[in-house]
Amino acid sequence: MARQARDLDEALAALRAGGLVAIPTETVYGLAGDASRPESVARIFALKGRPADHPLIVHVASLEAARAWSSRWPEAAERLGRAFWPGPLTLIVPKAPAVLDAVTGGQSSVGLRVPAHPLTRALLDTFGGGLAAPSANRFGRVSPTTAQHVLDEFRAIDDLLVLDGGACEVGVESTIVDVTGARARILRPGRIRAAQIEAVLEGALDRSLAGAPRASGTLASHYAPSRPTFAFSGEGLAILLQAMADAGKRVGLIHHGETARDPVLAQAVVSRVQLPAAAPEAWEHDLYAALRALDRDGIDVIVIETPPTGPDWEAVQDRLRRATAHTAPARSATGAATKI
Ligand code: TXA
Ligand code: MG
Repeated sequence: MARQARDLDEALAALRAGGLVAIPTETVYGLAGDASRPESVARIFALKGRPADHPLIVHVASLEAARAWSSRWPEAAERLGRAFWPGPLTLIVPKAPAVLDAVTGGQSSVGLRVPAHPLTRALLDTFGGGLAAPSANRFGRVSPTTAQHVLDEFRAIDDLLVLDGGACEVGVESTIVDVTGARARILRPGRIRAAQIEAVLEGALDRSLAGAPRASGTLASHYAPSRPTFAFSGEGLAILLQAMADAGKRVGLIHHGETARDPVLAQAVVSRVQLPAAAPEAWEHDLYAALRALDRDGIDVIVIETPPTGPDWEAVQDRLRRATAHTAPARSATGAATKI
């Protein structure tokens, strides 16, 4: 059975023996193994159930350590690494020849990140090498933001250690920036916003995603709960809640406004999480935990009241799109609301 690591030394010993350890980062928990050992990398893919052509991020202790994993260190990587590492940023750079194909999914680039969580920083400092670590969830599912989420996800797995570093500060995965081309591109939005990146680069990002490298986080339906999940706002939300009540469906609700407090509409709601209407960081911090809490027996459908849009909401809107991609039509029956 998966269990908590007693301390850093036990985690370190497991990694050095080729085993896997779930590690806390400031974004989400990662399922870590030695990035230079084929058997450790293979085990990560096997545990996650992840297709072999989806590359892993290599976590390293410092910007200096990151350079050794690349064959060319672009000026943009230097600037962004200096500005945001340690922190919730992953840089896609040309890979060094020694980087395992299994890590990069056969691509010529590698994703690198220096995480900020103190426990994992200490682990990386002592470990010395790179830790390949995707989010510690099964492929396509919601990322874990507590050690308990990881234990829940991999309960049946023997010899998996979980290093408990508390609840993740950010709560959504790192911003991924591809700096292999002439202009940098964001492949996945996160806590570090586009405007912050443009300020550091002193230039505009390439906003087109055509020809983007494969990134599993860029699949339409990813980070999804197992229950049907819908996101609506305003009148569309009211219509949906009414329809759920009429159909006898039990709703788990994430909301920010008062519509969902209407006693008639709230009939179907058996569990609710309220998040602040004007705080994207709070949504980032709590969204995955809320989705996990509502994705359980006794709930038929998860309904999310769509939060605002805008530059600071890109990470939240991106994860909501993925969480709902497998179910809702583009518009409600009445056309009153557009799915985010
Ligand atoms: O915050 C995070 O980034 C977390 C923590 C654990 O660091 N990790 C994470 O890993 O979210 P993962 O594997 O769940 O998502 C990493 C994304 C994937 O979509 C992967 O395809 C993409 O990064 N990626 C990795 N290397 C890449 C590369 N060379 N080119 C394009 N995308 C890459
Ligand atoms: Mg993931």
